[in-house]
Amino acid sequence: MSVQVKISKSKLSAPVPARWRKEVEKILITDEQLARRVKTLAREIERDFRGRELVVISLLNGTVLFLADLIRCLDMPLRLDFIGVSSYGSGTESGNLVFTKELRLDVKGRDVLLVDDILDTGKTLSKVLPKLKILKPRRIKTCVLLDKPSRRVAKVRADYVGFTIPDLFVIGYGLDFAERYRNLPFVGVLHPHVYQEVLGRAKK
Ligand code: PRP
Repeated sequence: MSVQVKISKSKLSAPVPARWRKEVEKILITDEQLARRVKTLAREIERDFRGRELVVISLLNGTVLFLADLIRCLDMPLRLDFIGVSSYGSGTESGNLVFTKELRLDVKGRDVLLVDDILDTGKTLSKVLPKLKILKPRRIKTCVLLDKPSRRVAKVRADYVGFTIPDLFVIGYGLDFAERYRNLPFVGVLHPHVYQEVLGRAKK
C-alpha cells in the first residue's frame, strides 16, 4: 500500500532562486524532498515486484526527470519503454489526447509499471490503461509523482503516488507550461501572470 505525502502550507519555506523569481511564485516541493520521496517510492516498488523483471513504461514528455531518478533507485532488473501522449488543450487545461509514440516492447505476461509525472483529470491514464490491458500483461501498476485528486474527471487512481497536491499550476522537475520550465530541479507554482499573459495572447 502506497503512503501518500500531502504538501501542507507549513512546508512552503524554500526561497525561489533569483533567476526564476519573476515566473515562479513559490517552491512547492524542493529537490531534497523530491529525492527523498523518489527513494521511498523505489523501495515500495522493489518490495511489491520482488523476484520479477519489470517493464517500466513512461509517458512522454513530462516524466523524464522523475523517471530517470526513479529507475536509478530501482535495484532490480527492468526494461524501459515509452509511450508518447499529449493533451493539446488551452494551456492549463487537459484537451484532446494525441498519441505521438507507440510502445515497442512486448508486455504480454510481463509485470508493468506505468509511470507519469502527474495525475490530474485522469483522462490520460484512463485512455492509456485500456490500451495496455489489451496487450495482456501479467499485471499493471501505476506510479505518479504528483496527484491532484480535486481535479479528477475520470475514475482512475494511481498505485504509487509521490505527493498529493492542491489544485495549483505546477511546473518544474519535468512539468511544463507551454513546453518551458521542465528543467527546474524543484516543483514550483507558476505565477498566474505568466499563463494569463500567454492565454491572453492566444485569444487575440
Ligand atoms: C500531462 C502529464 C500527464 C497528463 C495528466 O501531460 O504529463 O500525462 O498531462 O493530465 P490528465 O490526468 O488531466 O490527463 P501533457 O499532455 O501536458 O504532456 P507532457 O507530458 O508532454 O507535458
